[in-house]
Amino acid sequence: MPDTHTPTAPTASRVRLGSNAGQPMTRRDGVAKVTGSATYAADNRPSDLLHAVFASAGIARGRVSHMDVDAAKSHPGVVKVLTPQNCPSLEIDPDAKPHAFSWRIEVLQNDSVRYAGQPIALVVAETLEAATEGARLLSPTYEEQPVRIGFDGDAPYDPPAIGIGSAPSFTKGDIDAGHASAEYSTETSIETPIQYHNAMETHAIVAEWNGDRLTLDTPNQAIVMARGMFAGYFGLPPENVTLRSPYLGGGFGSKAVPIGPQLLAILAARMLKRPVKLALRRDQMFGPVLHRGATRQTLKLGTDADGRLTALEHHSTGVTSSFDEFIEPAANASHNLYASPAIVTRHKAVRADIGTPGPMRAPGEASGSAALEIAMDIAAEAAGLDPLEFRLRNYAETDPASGKPFSSKALRECYAAAAKQFSWASRPRAPGQMRDDVGRLVGWGMGSCLFPNPMFPAQARAVLRRDGTALVETAGADMGQGAWTALAQIAADGVGLPADRIEFRSGTSDLPDGGIAGGSGHTASAGGALYAAGSDVIAKLAGLATNDPASPLFGAGNVGVAARNGRLFRADDETRSERYEDILARAGLDEIEGAGSGGRDPANAEARAMFSHGAVFAEVTIDPDLYQIRVSRLVGAFAAGRIINPKLAKSQLTGGMIWGVGFALHEEGLHDTRTGRPMNADLAGYHVPVNADVPSVEALIIDEEDPYVNPLGIKGVGEIGITGTVGAIANAVWHATGARIKSFPIHIDALL
Ligand code: MOS
Repeated sequence: MPDTHTPTAPTASRVRLGSNAGQPMTRRDGVAKVTGSATYAADNRPSDLLHAVFASAGIARGRVSHMDVDAAKSHPGVVKVLTPQNCPSLEIDPDAKPHAFSWRIEVLQNDSVRYAGQPIALVVAETLEAATEGARLLSPTYEEQPVRIGFDGDAPYDPPAIGIGSAPSFTKGDIDAGHASAEYSTETSIETPIQYHNAMETHAIVAEWNGDRLTLDTPNQAIVMARGMFAGYFGLPPENVTLRSPYLGGGFGSKAVPIGPQLLAILAARMLKRPVKLALRRDQMFGPVLHRGATRQTLKLGTDADGRLTALEHHSTGVTSSFDEFIEPAANASHNLYASPAIVTRHKAVRADIGTPGPMRAPGEASGSAALEIAMDIAAEAAGLDPLEFRLRNYAETDPASGKPFSSKALRECYAAAAKQFSWASRPRAPGQMRDDVGRLVGWGMGSCLFPNPMFPAQARAVLRRDGTALVETAGADMGQGAWTALAQIAADGVGLPADRIEFRSGTSDLPDGGIAGGSGHTASAGGALYAAGSDVIAKLAGLATNDPASPLFGAGNVGVAARNGRLFRADDETRSERYEDILARAGLDEIEGAGSGGRDPANAEARAMFSHGAVFAEVTIDPDLYQIRVSRLVGAFAAGRIINPKLAKSQLTGGMIWGVGFALHEEGLHDTRTGRPMNADLAGYHVPVNADVPSVEALIIDEEDPYVNPLGIKGVGEIGITGTVGAIANAVWHATGARIKSFPIHIDALL
């Protein structure tokens, strides 16, 4: 067989994709999105639709003592008020965690309040306005308890796990000996704030029952998994639930698992036997739908006289809710990037009266690498070395945590390319040396980027039709990253057709499970399945042709055939080929169906460490009187295996870097320590970067062939851009001013 179609993963090989992969194809859904014809969840208006609005708790801890349900019910248009008194229970307790990806959620199971903004009632009405007014008329009163907010509200404890089931601590080597042998010892403390996902599209759902069948229009990053979870709460077999999520207006980790308000809308629709729509207001995004947890991190680095790490110790305390566990796995960012004979990481947790945190784009790495890159900068300075030179001296040739070889690692090439593009070599080492032509302080800083390459189980189906077109499908999720385009490119190569001859279906749960659009693993996971499904079809088609004396491919069973552009070719003699249509017609078949699943060779997964890498260089300009900080330039270079679509990949990397700007300078969820209420629950108070904040952002892509990571050699680009960038900006601020950053976002007063 030629390597064009290899359905399983042989060790150390990478399939050669066709001509669709690698093209900078424009987003196939772009026109629909910018012209407003793309149907987001809340755009669905089935007939007889009711509108739901939930009332949000105005306290952060205690219980609801009274609500004026009569006032709400008597408002014209209100048809139902759901409270803990009359809310039906679910088949699964919302405070249970039936699934590794389950969070404890509020579905009016009792009158307790555990964070501000928690749903305490649901008002359903004929119009959105009536539901909104009904919710207002509830005028709840509370029995309030003292709130715990931030790191100091409660005692730290040892969490049983961090992230989603990771160990809270890690030890390699003798850390005390490492510190004892250090020539330079440096300690760095960094705080990172709560950040809220704030996708452009707020969470929304339209729920419709038909007997015991349930249809949900709701944005979701893990469509088939979520369908199963929704089904579980209602005691339905998964096939009775259809979850449609063709478009998402951003997800960032918050749209993968069911949340309380979604379940309330489904309950209301079942009670009222009418479809119900619920869309969160912007302020309702600050509590019930996860967030990035705050961290307080300390790093202790030991460095020898040659500038090589002798000890790397990273401690992080994460704030979580009072009733569930998700601890930002920030210190894990120190496991896999820099070589050190001794590495220790430890996590602690603190409970607060806030919603439970969850994964948010580059969970762990975003916050952890911010602290690690500042610590590395401080250690470089102590050792008298240029920050890039220091990182090169501590370059990890094998995975520092496991000792395993990397499946591939082109970080050195990333450093070189980005440094050259940035002109890093002309940087003076001491801070405060550079000014721009209007007298502003200028600083340059850098950071390394790293993100792991997880994969998720995924399946796909392909049908080659008699007219030479194909239908290829998987329940993938395009939250804006371009999955509907990149996955279609892989699907087309899988069946050896130009992209315009395949129909690519995605985004709904009646298709094969496309896995999770998360962990930067969607293209690798769903893409692998799509390619395998296409390969399955081609293998069947080749079987027909090579066994048919009337085919020019007759007898080529041993040498194999290659498939491209709608034809099969003899692998040893490309002048002998045949159109798909002709093979099908002669066989008297209307179509050939194939199936495939994604994944990686478990032996490779066991033997290799798998990560995307990158380097980001940042320039800041700072007003010498006002200390207003601007990021004037970002250059990043990234190595992430095979790039399916360079236009979309650059867009992902650029977007990640821009989020790095937001992390460094803007984003911060603030809670009043007296009431526990969010103080900036809107986009006027919760700042994100706008165009004026990002004048020049450049993402370079470094070629990288990875024969181990998975058969397609795809690593992932969704999250890595934010890692490294935050620290690079903080280091640039130091280089401009001499002030070391201790917390994010960087406020002007940190420079005074
Ligand atoms: Mo991402 S935080 O895995 O959606």
